[in-house]
Amino acid sequence: MKLFADTADVEEIRKLNDLGIIDGVTTNPSLIAKEGRKFEEVVQEIAEIVDGPISAEVVSVKAEGMVAEGRELAKLHPNIVVKIPTILEGLKATRILANEGTPVNMTLCFSATQALLCAKAGAAYISPFVGRLDDIHTAGMGLIEEIVTIYSNYDFETEVLVASIRSPLHVLDAAILGADVATCPPKTIYQMMAHPLTDIGLAKFLADWESVPK
Ligand code: E4P
Repeated sequence: MKLFADTADVEEIRKLNDLGIIDGVTTNPSLIAKEGRKFEEVVQEIAEIVDGPISAEVVSVKAEGMVAEGRELAKLHPNIVVKIPTILEGLKATRILANEGTPVNMTLCFSATQALLCAKAGAAYISPFVGRLDDIHTAGMGLIEEIVTIYSNYDFETEVLVASIRSPLHVLDAAILGADVATCPPKTIYQMMAHPLTDIGLAKFLADWESVPK
């Protein structure tokens, strides 16, 4: 399973990238807004740090505008993936950009029927938001299971990119279900690696080492 960093914080991305475990990055307008910097500048900087797909989202809601924005974003770096909302106009724009060879990540997906149509439009990635579904007491992981099954039934090439991840359990469940990608906030990635028994064990090994004659 590929692991993407779900942040636009360049310093965080640099730290995560140094761990050697990051395959790509996803951003969205809210994450970009938090940085207080120019969109294109941030995206380009991220693309110079991580050698993998970098999702950058359009803000137009009409296909024509999405395509125009997508074309400009794609010029920023060869690894840019244009992120387009899962709406009817988004399907149109995705088909056009996909035919031009620009990979599209369709975002804000909340149902398996949406995911089916996004795959048919040629999306390279579908981003179902598990955390936001959990927030409204609907099982986010149930959606991942449905999409993984449908894509596998029909050999769709669209990758399932699990988004809106809130905890290591989301990542674990996504991996068990065979999702292609999990995009995680930095905090979740650090939580995935933390274990009190590792810390206790390491402290004991180091303490015992002190008694070894040197
Ligand atoms: C990433 O592609 C999504 O935009 C992001 O995971 C949404 O996460 P949130 O629901 O925590 O805002």
